[in-house]
Amino acid sequence: MQYDKEFFDYGLRRIGTHSEKWDAMRAEQGQDMLAAWVADMDFESPHEVRDVLLARAAHPTYGYTELCDEDFDAPIRFWKRRHSVSLTRENIAFMPCVITGLKTAVQLYTGDGDKVLLLTPVYGPFYGACEGNGREIVNLPLEMDSSRRYQMDFGKIERAFESGVKLMLLCNPHNPGSRAWDRDTLTRLVSLCVEYGVKLVSDEIHADFVFTQQGHISILTIENNEKCAIALSAASKTFNLAGLQQAMALSHNSEMIREFSLRMEKSGVTSGNIFALEGTRTAYDKGDEWLDALREYLIGNAEIVKSAMDGIEGIKMTPQDASYLAWLDCSAISADNDELMRRFRSARIEVSDGRIFGENAAGFIRFNFAMPRFVLAPALERFKKAME
Ligand SMILES: Cc1ncc(COP(=O)(O)O)c(C=O)c1O
Repeated sequence: MQYDKEFFDYGLRRIGTHSEKWDAMRAEQGQDMLAAWVADMDFESPHEVRDVLLARAAHPTYGYTELCDEDFDAPIRFWKRRHSVSLTRENIAFMPCVITGLKTAVQLYTGDGDKVLLLTPVYGPFYGACEGNGREIVNLPLEMDSSRRYQMDFGKIERAFESGVKLMLLCNPHNPGSRAWDRDTLTRLVSLCVEYGVKLVSDEIHADFVFTQQGHISILTIENNEKCAIALSAASKTFNLAGLQQAMALSHNSEMIREFSLRMEKSGVTSGNIFALEGTRTAYDKGDEWLDALREYLIGNAEIVKSAMDGIEGIKMTPQDASYLAWLDCSAISADNDELMRRFRSARIEVSDGRIFGENAAGFIRFNFAMPRFVLAPALERFKKAME
């Protein structure tokens, strides 16, 4: 299969597949809405994945299935090849999805009422993982620098650690805001975590969509990471496989991984869905060509979005250092998100309301541009209309 601009231009028709992004939205908001919200993509997954799933489905044995060495070795090879992270099988625990990992980490590393630090605005389920488990959230608002990139304030982080924080949930790269954290920042963070005995969970599900020169800097490449850190990731975001439900915790601290696996077992959550396993290891081993072409296409889309936003008075776009999710400050038009959402819906485009990421996101919305350009063009037209 040739993965090129034409492949991604063709896109993927998802209506009628019970897709959350399209079908759930259309049921709620109407048939003529365009979807630019939840973070998955309107592109076909690598055909290598489709073919292996079809071949597996053709063999009518769907009984209990064990993890095999290749389930470990394929992600080990991928993380080495693409992110210079060296792992062994003892460094990996499997789980159905990254949110399972966030919740498990909160349960493992904190007790009732303990404090968990979040840098906000952040992906909504970070809050749910803490609140749902009766933990106290220490909410540290990120500040934008003059280039509109979020920055960590280490003075504030240290004060939070002094106040008894047990765990920090980091989003790397950060969602929303598309911030690809740099090595110096992560090195300072790890050294503070080690100093204060704080566990650090780094959600790296968007790792394969870092577009900066430095590329993705995994927490697992930072000095002393084995003393405090665990990363969560998945092939799901990278290869558009979220419906398969397969993710991983990765850590150079094998004890942390053992604890993680044990907790999964105790909850009866053991990975072993045959299609998830087949699809995931195939994506990791055979998806590079598709992924490289996709990244090029997304970079092109980011440029198209940037130029459209530059043409709309009052909209400021955060630099698209990572992800296919544009973080747009519309506060000059309205800081009232109810009004913003009304405007977008009346222009028939669904975006993500900034408020789902935190209280300090008034006037912001998130726009998912992982779509073929024949859909992106009318989506941007509708966006513009909403802002008139
Ligand atoms: C930062 C982040 N973490 C986790 C997830 C969800 O991952 P999963 O579907 O594996 O639970 C998303 C999905 O949008 C995300 O953006």
